[in-house]
Amino acid sequence: PEPHFFATALITWYTQHKRPLPWRETNNPYAIWLSEVILQQTRVNQGLPYYQTFVSKYPTITSLANASEDEVLRDWQGLGYYSRARNMHHTAKFIAAERNGNFPTTYNELVKLKGIGPYTAAAIASFAFKEPVAVLDGNVFRVLARVYGLSDDIASPAGKKVFQLLADSLISRTEPDTYNQAIMEFGAIQCTPNMPDCLFCPLQQTCFAFLNGLVAALPHKSKV
Ligand code: ADE
Ligand code: SF4
Repeated sequence: PEPHFFATALITWYTQHKRPLPWRETNNPYAIWLSEVILQQTRVNQGLPYYQTFVSKYPTITSLANASEDEVLRDWQGLGYYSRARNMHHTAKFIAAERNGNFPTTYNELVKLKGIGPYTAAAIASFAFKEPVAVLDGNVFRVLARVYGLSDDIASPAGKKVFQLLADSLISRTEPDTYNQAIMEFGAIQCTPNMPDCLFCPLQQTCFAFLNGLVAALPHKSKV
């Protein structure tokens, strides 16, 4: 599909189907960062109560920085991958001490912070600051591979680069935040790994995988 049609279809679908999630109701980069760190290896339903706890107990980055690591790790209990919480606390202390509590506002600055990789930097930069940088996660790989018929290996660096180039060319310049949320949500609830809802899909008539019987074959991933 033509890029403008693709972005518009996703955004229209999103406004009709999105789940109401609290981190979508804020532009606060700190709250968005908390949500994205919590959701990195955690399902939305499991992460929700932790997000609520962290935003109410630590409403500002300074309050998180001033907490002890032990206390933060206690509040993290049950989420696993404790390095996420340690890096988050480290970065909170860094921003409180070195930047007067102000979050960096660009992708290039965000990606330098401990625990903030390309995905999280793009999420914060687009959701909080409307920078047109495309998020790439498992949902986005799947949607792009199917709709555009990309058979590049999503497990290889060269393959990831192909997806990043396509993703950056597709992102809406006027609504990069909504577009990024929309493509992730579309992958999470419409174009799902095993039973995508192709029969009621706004992209069906332009979707390479659907038109070519390749829905189950895409995306291609070499490693397990
Ligand atoms: N998983 C990771 N980030 C998310 C977001 N912003 N909304 C829903 N699920 C997510
Ligand atoms: Fe995904 Fe099927 Fe829609 Fe293609 S037609 S985008 S495979 S749900």
